[in-house]
Amino acid sequence: MEQHTRNLAAGFDKAAETYGNNPNSGFDHYGGLLAEFSKASPGERVLDVCCGTGAVALALAKRTGPSGSLLGVDISTRMMERARDRVESEGVSWVDFQQHDVGALSLEEQFDLATCGFSVQFFNDRQVPIQRMKEHLKPGGRIAISLWAEDFDGRFKDLPHDAVRRVRPDVYEPPRAGTIGGTEEKMVALLEEAGLKSVVAERHEFDTYEELDGDAWWDQVGGGGFSRLLVQLAPDEVEAVRVWLVDEREKLRGTDGRWHLPKPAILGMGWV
Ligand SMILES: C[S@@+](CC[C@H](N)C(=O)[O-])C[C@H]1O[C@@H](n2cnc3c(N)ncnc32)[C@H](O)[C@@H]1O
Repeated sequence: MEQHTRNLAAGFDKAAETYGNNPNSGFDHYGGLLAEFSKASPGERVLDVCCGTGAVALALAKRTGPSGSLLGVDISTRMMERARDRVESEGVSWVDFQQHDVGALSLEEQFDLATCGFSVQFFNDRQVPIQRMKEHLKPGGRIAISLWAEDFDGRFKDLPHDAVRRVRPDVYEPPRAGTIGGTEEKMVALLEEAGLKSVVAERHEFDTYEELDGDAWWDQVGGGGFSRLLVQLAPDEVEAVRVWLVDEREKLRGTDGRWHLPKPAILGMGWV
């Protein structure tokens, strides 16, 4: 497994406890929307790659019902532990979770639908996860994915990355969210390049307002892809990132005392 993938696994294992806890993260909101957009139906067999804590998986499984089933795969065992707890507490028993690197996914079975919520940007070649999903589809099957729009989170998208650049320029990476599926046109191009047909894309808006104070907010900062950078820093470097970030964020507080975080996303679907 590549070092990049190992960093992601370590980062998401660490982030699992707080990941998506804040409804402002949009993960549950968009999980439901992607399940609806994918038209997952009763009786279908669905594969959800990079399933995380189950935001998409749970919504999909509710649509397939017990006559269908869902397999969620992820590299982070801790993220999937939370997904298992969630499906159990909702009484959804027709779901299974397995640990796999999606970049090397090779399962015996084939599915009616494969989905991926907010994750293809983590792969250095975004076509790789889409091809792996495609290989696991029955004839006539479909793929549905979500990606952040390019104006997602406004200035907040860059801020944590800028903080890392100040402390450890060698670890710095620009934010990936929003760069790939950032517009409906880019989403269509991504899925058509993968050889999918009848591709459709839709933009959705989700405006959120953050009220967390600096420390509580910082606890959430690592709860996403950014955690892969934090796990590469020494404790004093993490602290330097925290101090700068909390201070810079304070300057972006709105006149109503809250922080405005727009969370537009693009949903896309295509058929084999
Ligand atoms: C931003 S989360 C998205 C989770 C979920 N789909 C959602 O919409 O909330 C990204 C997930 O992708 C997983 N991931 C990243 N790279 C992966 C890989 N190569 N194989 C499997 N999972 C991976 C991470 O562990 C993490 O759970």
